Amino acid sequence: MYGEWPVTEQQHAPEPGLENLLSEERRFPPPPDLAAHANATSDLYAWANADRPAFWAEQARTLLTWSTPFSTGLDWSNPPFATWFADGELNAAYNAVDRHVEAGLGDRVAIHFEGEPGDTRTLTYADLQREVSRAANALTALGVGTGDRVAVYLPMIPEAVITMLACARIGAPHSVVFGGFSAEALYSRILDAEAKVVVTADGGYRRGAPAALKPAVDEALAKGPTTVGHVLVVRRTGQDTAWTQGRDVWWHDVVDTASDQHTPVPVNAEHPLFILYTSGTTGKPKGILHTTGGYLTQAAFTHLNVFDLKPETDVYWCTADVGWITGHSYVAYGPLVNGATQVIYEGTPDTPDRGRWWSIIEKYKVSILYTAPTAIRSCMKWGEQWPAAHDLSSLRVLGSVGEPINPEAWIWYRSTIGGDRAPIVDTWWQTETGAIMISPLPGVTTTKPGSAQVPLPGIAADVIDDETHSVPNGSGGYLVITEPWPSMLRGIWGDPDRYVDTYWSRFKGIYFAGDGAKKDEDGDIWLLGRVDDVMNVSGHRLSTTEIESALVSHEWVAEAAVVGASDETTGQAVVAFVILRGDAAGAALPADEVAAQLRAHVAKAIGPIAKPRQILVVPELPKTRSGKIMRRLLRDVAEHRVVGDATTLADSSVMDLIAAGLAAPKA
Ligand code: WTA
Repeated sequence: MYGEWPVTEQQHAPEPGLENLLSEERRFPPPPDLAAHANATSDLYAWANADRPAFWAEQARTLLTWSTPFSTGLDWSNPPFATWFADGELNAAYNAVDRHVEAGLGDRVAIHFEGEPGDTRTLTYADLQREVSRAANALTALGVGTGDRVAVYLPMIPEAVITMLACARIGAPHSVVFGGFSAEALYSRILDAEAKVVVTADGGYRRGAPAALKPAVDEALAKGPTTVGHVLVVRRTGQDTAWTQGRDVWWHDVVDTASDQHTPVPVNAEHPLFILYTSGTTGKPKGILHTTGGYLTQAAFTHLNVFDLKPETDVYWCTADVGWITGHSYVAYGPLVNGATQVIYEGTPDTPDRGRWWSIIEKYKVSILYTAPTAIRSCMKWGEQWPAAHDLSSLRVLGSVGEPINPEAWIWYRSTIGGDRAPIVDTWWQTETGAIMISPLPGVTTTKPGSAQVPLPGIAADVIDDETHSVPNGSGGYLVITEPWPSMLRGIWGDPDRYVDTYWSRFKGIYFAGDGAKKDEDGDIWLLGRVDDVMNVSGHRLSTTEIESALVSHEWVAEAAVVGASDETTGQAVVAFVILRGDAAGAALPADEVAAQLRAHVAKAIGPIAKPRQILVVPELPKTRSGKIMRRLLRDVAEHRVVGDATTLADSSVMDLIAAGLAAPKA
């Protein structure tokens, strides 16, 4: 099963002191040679501001190929339910693959695949067209029709992208589930989406060894009745695999033998392209729904302009897994719609050694790298000798995504990886936004370490206070999006009310992202992290409530409270406080053993990524008189700070009890 980034000792990552960060020498103008030939120029902002829907309609027309041109742009007559280009028809896979082949680019490499053991595969756009067509024919033969959902639980191998595109080709929304999620998490997602087929693999390579995947699918489907008729299995590792006759089919039996001719099914611009589950503030993950035309427009526009992609010459590499939105928009869709050549790497950055990423960049002459601050901080810790041993001079644009990047990591990324040459684009967005929303443009923006800076052309974002007023420069508040955008989520699968409640109710008619942010003196935006009960661990979203539910589902646990504590490497780390039942067997065990068992339990319920870094057994939890757990105080404890104002507690001695319990020697 997939592991997480190495979780290490904790240290509070200081919230950036704005004064220090805004000093003149910490500004980096765009490189003149890049600016001279950049895809995006500063006049885009004015053009987009003049008429946002018209700007996006123009992007949709120029970046995509439509089988039926649209005549309507944005329809915002029934907010917060938007449609974009609703009377147009297109096919996402045709846009990502076929049209490039038709344009004579069939021999261009679409994917350089590098397996963790060192095996490689090269897929040109013509190869991809054949593979996607075969997979589309095979899925159809397995009973998948337009509108049916397909669950995808695969390692980072070409078949992941091929499957997503094959689904898009027949108009069957995919629901990709990250391979690091447990059987239980997979099961609930299969149920919610009512998936007809699951596509998986025997396993994948991770940290130098094969890690099984199919057993989790078997376990998920054994939990109860589902709508799944078939499991399509890629042979990747050759591990022994249990087999359910009639249900399970091998990819090499049904896909490799299928016809490589297939006509893409044109769908309406608002036809669902995919569902992707993400953690919210409640226990149940939300199926974020994205549709076809608007999503592809913004994925393609941002990929082209934020990374300054030159499809003829660039080699692009996004290190995200397709199990996350970044892997959807910036591995599967954006790059391929733009005809890019990209690298896909299966494994971890430290296998066989800590220079693996840098050797991949050198080998394929990667020119655009898109990764997460957590990865950058890990590499920083491993030391400069690893990147220094490789030629990274091909890099010309660096991207960051998923969590706030601390200025130290930003500077290291720029100097050690980017040779003080390549501009950094710190891109803010979410599963819900579908594509990048706030980011510098590499040929336009003078960058500031640690700031995502400006809404992209065509995007209207603001920082507001509790009363919905835009805050003045130099102040903080809530990050909101004030106008609809093409790749916005169209809803939560099967739950329209929750969509309205979650995103559009805190500030009426305004999209609230859940993030806190500041505007500096220039009006540039600095992200300050989540203001709700969502944690961000290694750039992955986790819900405190979901982990608390997992903990209390263990028979030993009476009550649990979870907080995200600052962590030097992973941004935040999960810290859990639990009260054990008096009569529980665990109450007699040493605290370390209890913690180990409960961590394993969370891994089983959600996945290894959700395992608490630390579990503290406590006699009480701090609660207000109305019974609400005061997580703020627990965060103080978890971050080894002096505990803040506890006067609103029902019982103010609780914090002393907790502190005393923590100080006491372990049994
Ligand atoms: C956080 C990932 C600061 C933020 C694309 C957001 C960021 C959540 C940045 C969405 C950034 C993402 N700077 N914070 N550049 N990018 N975030 O849905 O808290 O997995 O709300 O999408 O990640 O996470 P998600």
